[in-house]
Amino acid sequence: MTGVEVVHSDLDRVLVPAHEIEAKVAELGRRISQDYAGIRQLLAVGVLKGSAVFMADLVRVISVPVSFDFMAVASYGQLSSSSGVVRILKDLDQTIEDQHVLLVEDIVDTGLTLNYLLETLRTRNPASLRVCVLLDKPSRRKIEVPVDYLGFVIPDEFVVGYGLDYNEFYRNLPDVWVLKPAVYQKK
Ligand code: PRP
Repeated sequence: MTGVEVVHSDLDRVLVPAHEIEAKVAELGRRISQDYAGIRQLLAVGVLKGSAVFMADLVRVISVPVSFDFMAVASYGQLSSSSGVVRILKDLDQTIEDQHVLLVEDIVDTGLTLNYLLETLRTRNPASLRVCVLLDKPSRRKIEVPVDYLGFVIPDEFVVGYGLDYNEFYRNLPDVWVLKPAVYQKK
């Protein structure tokens, strides 16, 4: 697969190259397919917008019957830090009662978004509820959250690409990049 080569002065360096992401997503897909082998269907739930790219690749390497849906949430508070209060902007189209649900996130940082979503989805009585996250920044965690399928543990740096943005840009980059600190510190 060939991706666009974007060289931009805001970007510092590649943290996770596209070929490593591709290999990891394939591995996650294999594990998920094995763990859910024999089930009638799996519902993958992505959290917009960051998970869209990961979701698109992940569902294509899952071999059990899978459908997907998205939620959109907004956290109150400052731009790049979560306050823990989450507002649902778009809910799931259908009920998840008695369904096997896999929550798909691009990144877990403080854990507040994932914690809120898990609490919310649990009240809807799914048959099972697991979490698949591509990037984990454990140093920023404010609340422990269970992650069943994890891609990469990363340091506390501002990352963009493969779905993750800075001011809505860079989501389209095939690699995960570190943004230069000067870019977000100058605001
Ligand atoms: C990101 C990410 C998670 C959340 C993780 O979303 O997609 O949903 O932050 O942070 P937390 O663990 O500190 O709660 P963001 O709010 O940047 O929106 P986006 O997905 O539209 O980029």
